[in-house]
Amino acid sequence: MTQNGREASAPRPAPEETSGLSLTEKASLTSGSTTWNTTAVPGTVRALTLSDGPHGIRRQPESTGDALGIHNSLPATCFPPAVALGSSWDPELARRVGTALAREASALGVDVVLGPGVNIKRSPLCGRNFEYFSEDPHLTGVLGAAVVTGIQSLGVGACVKHFAANNQETDRMRVSADVDEQTLREIYLPAFERIVREARPYTVMCSYNRINGVYASQNRWLLTDVLRGEWGFDGLVMSDWGAVNDRVAALEAGLDLEMPPTGTDGEIVEAVRSGRLPEEVLDRAAGRLLALARRLEDRQRFDGWDADAHHELAREAARASAVLLKNDDVRGEGPVLPLDPAAHRRVAVLGELARTPRYQGGGSSHVVPTRLDNAWDALVSAAGRAGGQVAGRTGEQAREQATTLTFAAGYRLDGAPDAELEREAVAAAAEADVALLFLGLPDAAESEGYDRTTIDLPAVQVALLHRVAEVCPRVVVVLSNGSVVSVAEWQDAASAILEGWLLGQAGGSALADLLFGAHSPSGRLTETIPNRLADVPSHLHFPGADGHVVYGEGRYVGYRHHDTLGTGVAYPFGHGLTYSRFEYSDLDARETGANEWSVEVTVTNTGERFAHEVVQLYVAFEEERPSRPRHELRGFAKVGLEPGAAERVRFTLAGRDIAQWSVSRKDWRIDPGSFTVEVGASSRDIRLRAGLTTPGDGYLAPLTGMSTLGEWLAHPAGSPALRKVLGDSPAVAALDRVDPALLGMALGFPLIKFSTFGIGLTPEVVDRLVATAAELHP
Ligand code: BGC
Repeated sequence: MTQNGREASAPRPAPEETSGLSLTEKASLTSGSTTWNTTAVPGTVRALTLSDGPHGIRRQPESTGDALGIHNSLPATCFPPAVALGSSWDPELARRVGTALAREASALGVDVVLGPGVNIKRSPLCGRNFEYFSEDPHLTGVLGAAVVTGIQSLGVGACVKHFAANNQETDRMRVSADVDEQTLREIYLPAFERIVREARPYTVMCSYNRINGVYASQNRWLLTDVLRGEWGFDGLVMSDWGAVNDRVAALEAGLDLEMPPTGTDGEIVEAVRSGRLPEEVLDRAAGRLLALARRLEDRQRFDGWDADAHHELAREAARASAVLLKNDDVRGEGPVLPLDPAAHRRVAVLGELARTPRYQGGGSSHVVPTRLDNAWDALVSAAGRAGGQVAGRTGEQAREQATTLTFAAGYRLDGAPDAELEREAVAAAAEADVALLFLGLPDAAESEGYDRTTIDLPAVQVALLHRVAEVCPRVVVVLSNGSVVSVAEWQDAASAILEGWLLGQAGGSALADLLFGAHSPSGRLTETIPNRLADVPSHLHFPGADGHVVYGEGRYVGYRHHDTLGTGVAYPFGHGLTYSRFEYSDLDARETGANEWSVEVTVTNTGERFAHEVVQLYVAFEEERPSRPRHELRGFAKVGLEPGAAERVRFTLAGRDIAQWSVSRKDWRIDPGSFTVEVGASSRDIRLRAGLTTPGDGYLAPLTGMSTLGEWLAHPAGSPALRKVLGDSPAVAALDRVDPALLGMALGFPLIKFSTFGIGLTPEVVDRLVATAAELHP
């Protein structure tokens, strides 16, 4: 089960011919005709239709097609948003969701789906985190590539967004993400890179923000040098909606399509006529639109889709995405979950969110679902299946046996205190063997367009939890939130916590499946849950001021920070429990080629139920100086096993997996030395380790006058050049005699600086040394 890359094999589109088109026609192809359509040129190309979004199709009827009319789209399946789907750690599932999205897109007349969103979760405060997969670029890239592969398997286009460094909503249309190149290359770009190289998305969407002062839409380095030049992207780059500030500058930088239209095509025509914009730049952009249209000729056409089957897929995905954070043994009876109808006869279902689910986030990704499950109804029917009866306000079923369910809302979603609701819920809890308490964030707490200022749950909900815990011995908290909430201050009051994220339209029944144990939880955290907001590495810099946000924490995002410094966390990256147990054994890590390794490990289900384990592979650099992240995720595999069954899980590692970006070389660098592979169940639950070595990449920086004496002596051509040029000169004699402590000091001096020491190392001699070293080691 190898998780590493593979090259996609689809043919590249042929270069497009724009010569038959007028200047005006060509200019018209580089902007939309409506909010959701590109421009048609009769006889040449039809108008293409673009629609959000990442976890469901938001196809607006033509008459109401404006970007802000978010709630009036045609019904489509609302799959779990990326915050949840990511937690499945299951690329195959993500691919199937992608294919289902494509089928619905096609049936709704959509050519390009505006997703997935693959920005990194730099801060839990980002209002749009629910649309993104993880704080980790490897996990994000693998899952994003799977979604793109699924969407494009039916010939529908995907649009990977928001390229790049769009990690906050505050001032998103103007802010400059000030981020050093190593951090960009290692954290913020790799997911895009993997998706472009492996899944070949038809389109990429540039972000609104500036990167180191330059708008993404006008950033030639980003859109042309890196995206096309280095990664080989051969599709079309479109703007985020309204991200273009200067049409001409954007075209020159490599942006092909402005969306939605601003009525400025005349500026393009005028710029070409006046010689300010070379016509071939326009030809190139218009040609890419024609190439996209050509690719889309293969789009499969569907009249509709099987709404039941897609709802079931949404349910399966939701089930795979909820993360069981804790599951304590209560009074020596064993873990409180799954609910046991024999022991848990009276179940109080508490919290408005059990009845009014929060299942997606606000903004452009908002989908009108085809149907909507809520947890209360789903629990009622699950209890019925488990032989129960239902009492209370909405109770309608009545059977002879076991489990009795009651419901109380407990709190208002707007956060206003309501003593009566709280009293009813506490009374219900007092009568129950177990309370299922649904807590979470209201809609207004997180959305596209603004960031959060706190990661805390509403105070009325936390207060309710404490009161419920006083009267009921077993409290299971079920969370609904699109990005991390703090748990440290209240989690001791809960026997179990099931993090349900935003689970899409089938989330309610998926939660019932997990709570009653029809299925075992299998989600894992894709982001660290910190103890406090102040522990988050970006905290001091987020969201910036004065038009700039400085990425001062550099590469130390999420667990890269916490695990390097050993900061206490509430729950670590990769964590998640299930209803079974797994053992790891027989780790075998070996070199298979030049900077290539294989890693194998056996995983055994030692518990009593079928369940999934997510085997995580990290590479660790404990000794490395200057410091780098203590370890980084480089592979994972989700394995489903029957009790007693075992599977051998295989990974491959390549040089890039241990490389760092070298700013001076402008390339990836592998230093010779040792590293460790770690295999485990979270970034803090490493079960097995093995040491490996690398010879490095063989690169030697050329010696110059500004190379230090230490660098000269470490370089294979350094000492020979010194001896050849200087022979028995006083300088060499001085080097041989020098006190080691002094030599230590001298090692850090650039060679040219010795020219002032009167030991014969004149600038001319240094020039000869540099030339000789170059001859000896070209
Ligand atoms: C969002 C994009 C979205 C676009 C079209 C923008 O505001 O940032 O993610 O695809 O609108 O709705």
